[in-house]
Formats: sequence, C-alpha cells, structure tokens
Amino acid sequence: KCLIGYSSKFVKCGKHGYVMPGSFKKHAEAIYNMEVRPDDIWVITFPRSGTTWTQELIWLLMNDLDYSTAKSIPLYERFPMLEITAKIPDIAFELIKTNFMNLGNFQGLGAAARCPSWKIIENAPSPRFIKTHLPLSLLPPKLLSTAKVVYVGRDPRDVAVSYYYLHKMVAKSLLRTGFPTFWEAFRRDLLPWTPIVSHTNEAWTKRHEPNLHFVFYEDMIKDLPKQIRKMCKFLGKEYTEEQIKQLSEHLSFESLRKNKSVNNTTGDAVNGVQFVRKGEAGGWKTHFDQKMEIQAEEFLVSRLRGLDLVYPSFS
Ligand code: A3P
Repeated sequence: KCLIGYSSKFVKCGKHGYVMPGSFKKHAEAIYNMEVRPDDIWVITFPRSGTTWTQELIWLLMNDLDYSTAKSIPLYERFPMLEITAKIPDIAFELIKTNFMNLGNFQGLGAAARCPSWKIIENAPSPRFIKTHLPLSLLPPKLLSTAKVVYVGRDPRDVAVSYYYLHKMVAKSLLRTGFPTFWEAFRRDLLPWTPIVSHTNEAWTKRHEPNLHFVFYEDMIKDLPKQIRKMCKFLGKEYTEEQIKQLSEHLSFESLRKNKSVNNTTGDAVNGVQFVRKGEAGGWKTHFDQKMEIQAEEFLVSRLRGLDLVYPSFS
C-alpha cells in the first residue's frame, strides 16, 4: 500500500520489481519491442535527477546550438517522454499532470484525446530525442547496441526531496502529509519508478559500453563546461570554448528557470513549486532530521552492498 494517497493499483515490473502504474502493463511489451534507430538519442533517468537540464543540453549540441528554435518549441515536444499518455495534438504542460493522473487515476483533465507517447515516438521522423524514466531492463534489449544513451544519476536523498516537491506541484491532494511520510514511501520502494539504486546501477554496470554515457548531476553542478565537453565527445560534436561558455550560461539554473520552453510553458510556480526548483547538490540536509539521516545512510549502505556503484556525494 502506498503511503501517500495514490488511488490506483501499481505493478512491480522486471527483476528488480520496479513500481509502475497498472496501466503500464498494457504498454510494456510494445515499448520493450519497439524499434530503436541508430540516430536516436535517449536520456534515461530516475525522475528528478536532472533530466530536463540534460535534455536541453543534448538537444542544443545536436542542433547546432539553435537557441531560437529551442526557445520557441517546448522541450517536451522536442524531446518527448516515452512512457506517458500524450494529449494530441496539444502536448502541453498537461503532460506532466497527465503522467500523474495515469498513475493516480485522477479525474480532472476531461476526455481529451490521448495516445500513448510511444506510438507518437514510433512514427516520429529521425533523428529522435527520447526521454524515459524506465530502467534499462524494461527498454528494448538492442538499445545500447543501436542508439546513443545518456544516463543521469543523482544522490537518492536529493532525488527524494526533489520528487516530493514534484508531487506537490502536480497533485497537491497526493500529499496530505509532509516530507517524512514521503521519505518513508521512497525508502520502502513504494513510489513510481523505485527502487532508485537498482535503476541507477543497471546503467552504471554498463557505463563502459561505447553507446552509453553515464553522468552524475553532482558533477554537472560542479563543472558544467567540463561535462559539456565530455558530452560533445560522446555525441561526436565539436564546439569552441566560447560556444561552450555561452551554452553553460544558457543552461545555468537562473537562465533555465526563466526559460519557458523548459521550466513548463508558463514559467510559473504550480502550487508554490517551480519545476526548475532549487538546483543544488546536498540540499537534502535541510529536509532530514537526525533519525531520517541515519535511515538514509542505512538505506544507501544496504542498497549499495555488493555493488561497485559509488555516488560522488556518498562513498
Ligand atoms: P531540485 O528539485 O533539487 O531543484 P528532472 O528534470 O529530472 O525532473 O530534475 C529536476 C531537478 O533538476 C530539480 O532539482 C531541478 O531544479 C534541477 N535542475 C533543473 N535545471 C537545472 C539547472 N540548470 N541547474 C541545476 N539544477 C537544475
């Protein structure tokens, strides 16, 4: 039973028991069997790990730093998410809401025509830019041997806090309690897309494969130009230092927050929360009391036991 008020049933999928909405069962096979193209670029993350930031970076690198198109077409259209139901043709900020509506069986959007996003992506022209929160084991087995994939990892404690605020943003009614209860659900793998460490470890163990680029959010925070250079190398792109500097400025927290193409369509806070919210590494400390901090440490130690996965912020 989920502790935070979802009304729909969840299913556990795959060998690590990923928590997915019951409706995922209808689409799991089609997604697993979908055709991957050699010029696809996929971004895979656990939610709230810096997906949006990385998508904007990749899209710009792959599109000759075309800032004006990036500003005029929302990121969710340039770089759609795979496992959601998209409203057609107006794929608006509603997408994020829709995602949670599906998960929670929420009422409210009316009977707008919708279609599984994978169907739209299946028919999209190349090159395709695809975002997903599904772990590698639920994605097409030929993905890594065919397309380029970027995985972004983040300290699970910061993810938990950021995920809490995302829930607040999309469905206030889901959160009748505060962060401690949310954390409890997170560490007990009761929330969509958990367990997080398995999710990240699946990519970590494949990080040496030529088509996979693994990056930590914390390293992007520490030195964005350095990570941009690495991304360029992975994607086979060359830009001058001046262009990288300009791109770093475009991707800065302050700039992305103001960017309506990225920080939802209006750029406004929803239920008091901005999608591009705080942009810190280690901000979790202000949300955990001493007991939760110890729990978090135990959670990470036990989940990481036997793995060689090392988070830059926890070793
Ligand atoms: P916080 O809630 O901790 O601020 P995702 O895109 O996967 O949902 O990740 C969202 C997280 O990435 C949020 O974290 C958001 O603020 C952060 N983020 C987005 N753009 C950023 C940027 N330019 N710099 C730093 N963090 C950014």
